[in-house]
Amino acid sequence: MLSLHTIHRVWIPVGFIICLLPMVWIVLQIFAVGGLGLGPNPIEEIQDWLGIWGLRLIMMTLTVTPFRWLIRQHWPVRFRRMLGRFAFTYCLAHFLTYVVLDQSFDWSAIIEDITERPYLTIGFAALVLMVPLAITSSHSWRRKLGRRWQILHRLIYVAGIAGCWHFYWQVKKDVTEPLIYIAILTVLLGARVVHQLYARTPTASKERG
Ligand code: HEM
Repeated sequence: MLSLHTIHRVWIPVGFIICLLPMVWIVLQIFAVGGLGLGPNPIEEIQDWLGIWGLRLIMMTLTVTPFRWLIRQHWPVRFRRMLGRFAFTYCLAHFLTYVVLDQSFDWSAIIEDITERPYLTIGFAALVLMVPLAITSSHSWRRKLGRRWQILHRLIYVAGIAGCWHFYWQVKKDVTEPLIYIAILTVLLGARVVHQLYARTPTASKERG
């Protein structure tokens, strides 16, 4: 069992650096450091990289609770806020790449694109849903909102579904990769349903005392 001190002093900073690595990697590629480069479609590559890491981090955030149930320990929860904030940061950077590099701040084109292309509408919805979660992710907001905080933060499930949907819809040919993400998400959300059902059974209630 990890002590609270080691988690906060060692493992959270280590996790922070690991979460930063995909961002560092893409920046190194943008500036062609050490012979790295982005290939023939640099904007698309930056956008895809940030989008896929945004989705991966949403999945990792959603893995914390089932993992905690599995190992019957509380410490994984300590990583959840950091993972969630990184998920939002990557998704926002993905969106900003679209706004700045892809559309050059052409707001009317952006609005038209988001309203007329369903895969962008659903992606935008996912991002918007994550905004209140990012704002209220601090301890003080958690304390202020009490039980309502947990209810609000269930929006991450909807954001995960919308993010996967957006990924599935934007793929032109081979849908294998988005289907893998959809399968993982189904397991992660399914685990919560099973846990809820189990928690309601009389034996489970007795076990919990
Ligand atoms: C939670 C929010 C979002 C997530 C998780 C997400 C995730 C993703 C993923 C995984 C991809 C495919 C990457 C790949 O092919 O490897 C993608 C592509 C794309 N996303 Fe998002 N996205 C989000 C929001 C948005 C928003 C708000 C926009 C713009 C309005 C957007 C625009 C795009 C575009 C244009 C592509 C296709 C890029 C290309 O041409 O390859 N996404 N996104």
